[in-house]
Amino acid sequence: MRRRQFVSLPAFQYATEAARAAEPELIPSWPVFDQREEDGLEKVLKSGKWGRGNGGAVAAFEQQYAKLTGSGHCLAVANGTSALLVALGVLGIGPGDEVIVPPYTFIATVNAVLRFHAVPVFADIDPATLQMDPKKVAEQITPRTRAIIMVHMAGGVGELGEVVALGRKHNIPVIEDAAQAHLAEWQGKHVGPHGALGCFSFQASKNLNSGEGGAVVTNDAAMAERAFAFHNNSRGRTQPGTEFHYEMSGANLRLTEFQGALLSAQMSRIEGQAKKRTETARKIDAILSRVEGLTPMKVAKDCTRNAYHLYMFRYEAAKFGGRTRAEFLKHLAKEKLPASGGYAPLQDEPFLKNTFETRGYQFAYGKNYFEKWRKKNDCPVNRKSCGEAVWFTQTFLLGEPELIHKLDKSLAAWFRKG
Ligand SMILES: Cc1ncc(COP(=O)(O)O)c(C=O)c1O
Repeated sequence: MRRRQFVSLPAFQYATEAARAAEPELIPSWPVFDQREEDGLEKVLKSGKWGRGNGGAVAAFEQQYAKLTGSGHCLAVANGTSALLVALGVLGIGPGDEVIVPPYTFIATVNAVLRFHAVPVFADIDPATLQMDPKKVAEQITPRTRAIIMVHMAGGVGELGEVVALGRKHNIPVIEDAAQAHLAEWQGKHVGPHGALGCFSFQASKNLNSGEGGAVVTNDAAMAERAFAFHNNSRGRTQPGTEFHYEMSGANLRLTEFQGALLSAQMSRIEGQAKKRTETARKIDAILSRVEGLTPMKVAKDCTRNAYHLYMFRYEAAKFGGRTRAEFLKHLAKEKLPASGGYAPLQDEPFLKNTFETRGYQFAYGKNYFEKWRKKNDCPVNRKSCGEAVWFTQTFLLGEPELIHKLDKSLAAWFRKG
């Protein structure tokens, strides 16, 4: 029997569970909106221009987001998964290819690779940060490697410089999966445009939210054009709607004008919200520093701004007389302090084996390939970390000071019990 995590839910479901466990007056409801969103939505509604083909709201947001991320080009898309599909499509990933990914991520990072009939190859994580370890990336490079996806997990940034340098050395493009990392910075610069392409999500639980939504950023003009065509069912930016000639395969992954308007309005609050999350994170750091056995995830040296989509720390049962993480999470839940155990080890999930056994994969790679794959994709650090991690969500970090006071008292009580 596979071991299950205490809570291991998709991001959107987790947000709902967390909201249920929360004390409403201490954690603000999410999303935050006011007249700005109402005005933006009403304007689009009344214009009758609801798709990006004839409206201006998506294009206006793209300009804003390109500026924010310091990218030459930004393309808004239907969601973060679509952003990854566009990036991999632009790079021409396909059957026979390998794409290096971290195992500590949401399944979408891996699903996007599988949609192209390529094979995800896991580079294990650094136990101190839970970000992908560049040494493990180097070990996984083979002649089949066609891309590396670096995930900025929880809004932190790992050793991006080393991963980008590895990509350059081996001529392998790097994609930043920054779905959780709006406003995160590496060496003082916004994440997104440091590799070939960067991908963001604006799904409902994210720090920047339009219900569903995503974006691809790049500094490469040719890639930006291909990205546009890919997300627009193969039609280039300047191709008139009446012209039916196509250069590449694509899909319809467009964002609506309503979401474009929502995002521009939401952008007016992200700085203030990010500051509040950072302040709360510092307070939680201080509280945890007093409890041996609860260790906040380290922020890598070049991560000059952590976006705190999640606040992650490690729970070591041995330091609490063997009381399990599941018991600890129950203790917090009883006190209306919503926390989660986060991801299950992705490399052990059955979807991989089941996908590799399909006709297409067997045809493209053969049986022996996957036996070898299993041996080199064990990722013991990830497995251990998945069993010990604890998450607070970004809305928890927007909570009232009283919430942090409660957390302090609750941790002290847990410590005394032992
Ligand atoms: C790391 C990561 N990549 C990709 C995605 C996919 O984004 P979306 O849910 O908008 O498709 C998510 C969403 O949770 C994510 O956390």
